[in-house]
Amino acid sequence: MNILILGSGGREHALAWAVQQNPKCDRLIVAPGNAGIAAIAECPALDILDGDAVAAFAADNAVDLVIIGPEAPLEAGVADACRNAGLSVFGPSQAAAELEASKSFTKAICDAAGAPTAAWARFSELDAAKTHVDAAGAPIVIKADGLAAGKGVTVAMDIATAHAALEDCFGGAHGGAGAEVVIEEFMTGEEASFFVLVDGEVCLPIGTAQDHKRAYDGDEGPNTGGMGAYAPAPILTEALQADVMAQIVRPTMAEMVRRGTPYQGVLYVGLMIEDGRARLVEYNCRFGDPETQVLMMRLGAQALDLIQAAAEGRLGEVSPSFASDHALTVVMAAEGYPGAYEKGSEIRGLEALPESSTQVVFHAGTKAEGGKILADGGRVLGVTARGATLAEAQRAAYAMVDAIDWPEGFCRRDIGWRAL
Ligand code: AMP
Ligand code: GLY
Repeated sequence: MNILILGSGGREHALAWAVQQNPKCDRLIVAPGNAGIAAIAECPALDILDGDAVAAFAADNAVDLVIIGPEAPLEAGVADACRNAGLSVFGPSQAAAELEASKSFTKAICDAAGAPTAAWARFSELDAAKTHVDAAGAPIVIKADGLAAGKGVTVAMDIATAHAALEDCFGGAHGGAGAEVVIEEFMTGEEASFFVLVDGEVCLPIGTAQDHKRAYDGDEGPNTGGMGAYAPAPILTEALQADVMAQIVRPTMAEMVRRGTPYQGVLYVGLMIEDGRARLVEYNCRFGDPETQVLMMRLGAQALDLIQAAAEGRLGEVSPSFASDHALTVVMAAEGYPGAYEKGSEIRGLEALPESSTQVVFHAGTKAEGGKILADGGRVLGVTARGATLAEAQRAAYAMVDAIDWPEGFCRRDIGWRAL
């Protein structure tokens, strides 16, 4: 098979790493890719938000399967353009990707399906929203309805913070994404992520993970895209996964079918768990980053068979098999991230860390220049290891971190603490 993966982050490196181990994979193209991905795949320049350009590229290169990594091309309808061109695609249509692109869309689907989630209301006008906040009281959660690059959510512990978040949204701080605002009940509990493949009808769980969103140790500091992750998530027991499938995933996916917009791809199910019960925080219509790094580490080559089955509507014929092992990723980020950071510093020592089925340094934001590997983003590396226990995976991942010579970078030293 010739396979095209769209994207350039640690998630796409992890997908490429798993896919390329499958003997079915003849030619692997990752566009635009990064320096780490370039070691295992062709990385041509391609505008991945341009559906027609992607479909034409895939046709020219006899691509058998297109795997879409990030949410932006999904929201831009790239999956539709590829499907309309007769290509096999992994990733939801623009209409189904509303599950990530619009918070109120997902809340309405949950209500229609009877899926447990936080109580909510939607507003398109500042005064009415403030009145609602005053009546409901704090803590309360304010969300820009649209895609806001992970910056559209404010968990407000007091009314003044909630008002300020509303003023930001309606004042244009998130552009069009904030023209509508969802106000939610504040949920307490422990968060975990659940990954489910969906082929329209059939829903197949493929693993659990937890990530660390805050920048600094002890879950302190600003929110980030994720500073590390581990899998599996011990709080998501088999029994709880079955409950989530029965109460949240299957009913909402059935509602998507009923509306004429069946979902196909991976569903990232963000959950809040308290007293053995799970409620939906959010859906994303793509793999998580850095959760994919730990998921792929555990799935390996079979990931391609599962993804292909989802794309071809054959999920009923496959099932994942897992060793009883654990994986952990430590993200190394450029000093300053998630605020302003410099690009271009050199990362040394990577060549001394040979890749194996138990340890890989996934590249998230790097470029190769003059034989050197340079930092080229905020989150730069996803140092990933696998072990019989989570403690062993953690030890191995930090041993790799310590072998990397990159003074301009930083990482958290406590990834996995909650489960350990
Ligand atoms: P979202 O983009 O919707 O996942 O929100 C980002 C983060 O905000 C989540 O991962 C939670 O930590 C937090 N959050 C979102 N909604 C709620 C809620 N209703 N109650 C408590 N925390 C929330
Ligand atoms: N790590 C969180 C996300 O991918 O959305």
